[in-house]
Amino acid sequence: MEKHYAVIGDPIEHSLSPRMHNAGYEALGIDAEYQRFHVKPSYLAEAVDGLCALGFSGWNVTLPHKEKVTSHLDTLTPQARRVGAVNTVKIHEGKRIGHNTDGDGFIRSVEGNLNGFKGKKAVLLGAGGASKGIALALSAQGMQVHILNRTPEKATVLVELIKHWGGTATSGKFAPGDWIEDVDLLVQTTSVGLRGEPFPFSVQGISEKALVVDIIFNPRETAFLQEAKKQGCRTLNGLGMLLYQGALAWEFWLGGQAPVEVMRQALYRAQS
Ligand SMILES: NC(=O)c1ccc[n+]([C@@H]2O[C@H](COP(=O)([O-])OP(=O)(O)OC[C@H]3O[C@@H](n4cnc5c(N)ncnc54)[C@H](OP(=O)(O)O)[C@@H]3O)[C@@H](O)[C@H]2O)c1
Repeated sequence: MEKHYAVIGDPIEHSLSPRMHNAGYEALGIDAEYQRFHVKPSYLAEAVDGLCALGFSGWNVTLPHKEKVTSHLDTLTPQARRVGAVNTVKIHEGKRIGHNTDGDGFIRSVEGNLNGFKGKKAVLLGAGGASKGIALALSAQGMQVHILNRTPEKATVLVELIKHWGGTATSGKFAPGDWIEDVDLLVQTTSVGLRGEPFPFSVQGISEKALVVDIIFNPRETAFLQEAKKQGCRTLNGLGMLLYQGALAWEFWLGGQAPVEVMRQALYRAQS
């Protein structure tokens, strides 16, 4: 193999990224291989040095390393600096460049379903790592962002970060409120629903114009998404975000356009 890529994380065995990237290399006849490696937090520095020593051209980074890995890199792109987290590393002329494609991957996954972003209202449920990347990316597109989190202090910190980068953001109670009537984009970013459990509150009465996204992709349709669909909203799960963060990482590494449809089909196959 001429080029080697990987994803590192803990746990990592359920990662669908190798299936998606390897299907793309095969379709375009690229002499490359994408692997996954289980890296415990205490071995992160050694793992990064090891990937460099073994001649890897780049790798993805997933939980719990996205923030810690930044201190083992030479430089960060503006997207990674803004979020303070890295999901993609590229080796370029011997330098380790950290990038973040999560937020822009989310944007790509929803843009075909929204008639523009500027001046519209986004409500984010959750203020963890995924919410941070999505909130900053939506704000950079000119959306007004309202953040609701079970632990309100974390929503406040995220609002301040968005304002620091010039965006408009507010936070509120983790409950239904006035926002429900005029939200354009509602994004469920908490881990509630991963095990089939119901969401802590109902979105009954939500504006029918809202696009509702749950970034969980397994199960394919959480109870939260099922309820939004019953209310007449258009809905999307998190598979599109996974696909497009991968496509953007591909393009960062290899240039050109990633074979998005091939990668999407590989994800569908891996899920079935
Ligand atoms: N589609 C994709 O490509 C993609 C990418 C990244 C992540 N994800 C998914 O996104 C989800 C969150 O990931 P993350 O990295 O942001 O995790 P994280 O940093 O650990 O944040 C977890 C979030 O969930 C909230 N939460 C957890 N349990 C809750 C409960 N019982 N009730 C209310 N809120 C609760 C937390 O609230 P507190 O602050 O109050 O604890 C926090 O806001 C996961 O399901 C992950 O699989 C999907």
